[in-house]
Amino acid sequence: MKVGLQLHLFAIASESLVAVVTRNLTQEMARLLLIKFLDLIFNNFRGEVPSWFGFLHELQFLSLKNNSFTGPLPSSFFNISKLEMLNLAFNSVGHIPVSLSNASRLERLELSSNLIQGSIPNEISNLHKLNWLAIKYNQLTGSIPLTVFNIFRIEVISFTGNSLSRSLPNGLCNGLPNLKGLYLSINKLHGHIPTSLSNCSQLQLLGLSENEFDEPIHSEIGILSKLQQLYLGTNHFTGIIPQEIGNLINLMELWMEVNQSQSPCKIKGLIPNDFGNLSSLLDLDLSENSLAGSIPTTIGNLRNIQHFNFRINNLTGFIGDHICKLQHLGEIYLGQNQLSGSLPNCLGNITSLREIHLGSNKLSSNIPPSIGNLQDLVVLDLSSNNMVGSLPPKIGNLKAVTLIDLSMNQFSNGIPRKIGGLRTLVHLSLRHNKLQGSIPDSMSIRVGLEFLDLSHNNSYVFGKTSKPKVFECFCQQIVWYRRGKRAPQQANSLSTITRERISYYELLQATDDRSDSNLIGSGSFGSVYKGILRCGTAIAVKVFNLQLDAAFKSFDTECEFLRNLRHR
Ligand SMILES: *[C@@H]1O[C@H](CO)[C@@H](O)[C@H](O)[C@H]1NC(C)=O
Ligand SMILES: *[C@@H]1O[C@H](CO)[C@@H](O)[C@H](O)[C@H]1NC(C)=O
Ligand SMILES: *[C@@H]1O[C@H](CO)[C@@H](O)[C@H](O)[C@H]1NC(C)=O
Ligand SMILES: *[C@@H]1O[C@H](CO)[C@@H](O)[C@H](O)[C@H]1NC(C)=O
Ligand SMILES: *[C@@H]1O[C@H](CO)[C@@H](O)[C@H](O)[C@H]1NC(C)=O
Ligand SMILES: *[C@@H]1O[C@H](CO)[C@@H](O)[C@H](O)[C@H]1NC(C)=O
Ligand SMILES: *[C@@H]1O[C@H](CO)[C@@H](O)[C@H](O)[C@H]1NC(C)=O
Ligand SMILES: *[C@@H]1O[C@H](CO)[C@@H](O)[C@H](O)[C@H]1NC(C)=O
Repeated sequence: MKVGLQLHLFAIASESLVAVVTRNLTQEMARLLLIKFLDLIFNNFRGEVPSWFGFLHELQFLSLKNNSFTGPLPSSFFNISKLEMLNLAFNSVGHIPVSLSNASRLERLELSSNLIQGSIPNEISNLHKLNWLAIKYNQLTGSIPLTVFNIFRIEVISFTGNSLSRSLPNGLCNGLPNLKGLYLSINKLHGHIPTSLSNCSQLQLLGLSENEFDEPIHSEIGILSKLQQLYLGTNHFTGIIPQEIGNLINLMELWMEVNQSQSPCKIKGLIPNDFGNLSSLLDLDLSENSLAGSIPTTIGNLRNIQHFNFRINNLTGFIGDHICKLQHLGEIYLGQNQLSGSLPNCLGNITSLREIHLGSNKLSSNIPPSIGNLQDLVVLDLSSNNMVGSLPPKIGNLKAVTLIDLSMNQFSNGIPRKIGGLRTLVHLSLRHNKLQGSIPDSMSIRVGLEFLDLSHNNSYVFGKTSKPKVFECFCQQIVWYRRGKRAPQQANSLSTITRERISYYELLQATDDRSDSNLIGSGSFGSVYKGILRCGTAIAVKVFNLQLDAAFKSFDTECEFLRNLRHR
């Protein structure tokens, strides 16, 4: 406590309301022996949790949430024989005493976001009345004791964000008829998911994401018919998605995404047709797996869905008109698949759409003019496809759009004048197409535009004025150059350099297979070549002579050096 700071302390004793204003939290407090309800949340108390709380024998409710208490939780706490609810979340408490088990009336124990280490004490199972147990975001280790799963009345168990390991006990759920929420995401649990999980018949939320569970996801999960939220992403599952998940008609969120930087393991096979039965679904995330086949037509039955994410999979076939039935869809993430054919004409009927991510597929149609109906659209990414035709002038109707990326396609003819009138536009890339004609004058008055890339198109005519007005806009980055020319003709601060992974093949191409004409120097460790990447960036490539041991050491040093240096 800062001296002089008024303490907001409300202590309600059974007989009277006692408002205490003091400077220090002192033993004075212990005089309030009749207190039943003590709420000290959102103060700035520091130091160890005072043990004298243990003398408040009448205390039923104690919340010290959002303070800065440190040290162990004093064992005296659990002599408070009438304590029903203890909340210490958002402090820096480091240890749970075994005496915990003496607080036999405890119903809610909330210790999340502290620094609690060690394993979960077995004695926790003596808390027969416990209904809510949350020790999220701490540093718990070891396995989850089976005894936790014997607390008959428990409805919520949350150990998200610890370092719990080993496998879940077989028989889990056989003694938990009331469990509604099991939160175990972000730990190091492995092994299979015990089939006895299906005995948790009241379960509404199951969070197992970001662990190391392996083996295929078993079909018994489809018995948990009350599930509303199922999070299984980023594990080490093998095999396919069980179609029985299609039984879970109350599901609202289903996440089976994989973060490739955290797990190399992906789910294979098809998206089950039975997913079309999940009529309550709002959010479906299957991204970064190895799912193949086409998007099931049954997806058109997900009438409530707001967000689906299938990006980075191996989906083939057409997108199909059935997605136009999804009248609440806000975001489509389908980038980096192998989808082909056309962008459905009816796309403009999904007026709820805010983001369309379809980059890096094999779409080969034009952009349907109906796209102009999407008044709430913010992002339109159709980059790296084989799309053709003229850009429809109705793109100019997208009055909320901030990003349009149509790069790396085969779009031809001119840039519609109305694009220049899009007031919200921040990022526009039309690079690498077959566009021609003049840059609309309207673009020059676009104050908010920060990035404009028209490079690698057919030649441009500047129109009436000799100086391209486009450069008068307040872009932070403009990349604009004629086809065939490698370097930007004019560039206004190209300082933002994106870190890109560049393939060996592209490096070979860029340096013309390391031709002598590109050699700009050589030394004892290797040679340096100049080159220009496909994207137009000039680079210097250092080729190390790997026969030399010293070259390896040099490599690390150079990398460190190059990281801090930018070649002209
Ligand atoms: C508050 O406590 C500190 C020691 O914890 C003590 O030095 C100080 O005198 C106390 N202040 C008041 C106003 O009681
Ligand atoms: C507790 O305080 C921290 C900042 O100290 C804040 O980030 C957190 O949201 C607060 N918790 C709650 C539940 O408001
Ligand atoms: C539990 O309480 C009893 C009596 O109230 C006491 O004797 C015992 O030591 C306590 N147990 C623990 C583990 O603190
Ligand atoms: C469910 O619980 C019952 C009773 O405890 C048990 O006999 C049964 O084997 C359990 N089911 C599974 C799938 O483990
Ligand atoms: C999905 O619905 C269809 C048609 O109602 C039904 O035949 C199928 O068994 C359901 N699938 C699941 C997994 O419940
Ligand atoms: C994947 O994990 C990395 C590292 O933890 C994180 O930076 C990144 O944002 C995650 N990606 C997604 C899509 O969640
Ligand atoms: C994608 O599918 C093709 C054939 O359809 C297959 O050859 C390829 O290995 C698949 N890629 C991945 C990442 O699954
Ligand atoms: C799209 O909307 C138009 C007019 O509202 C309607 O005629 C057409 O049938 C719709 N298309 C689809 C595929 O729903």
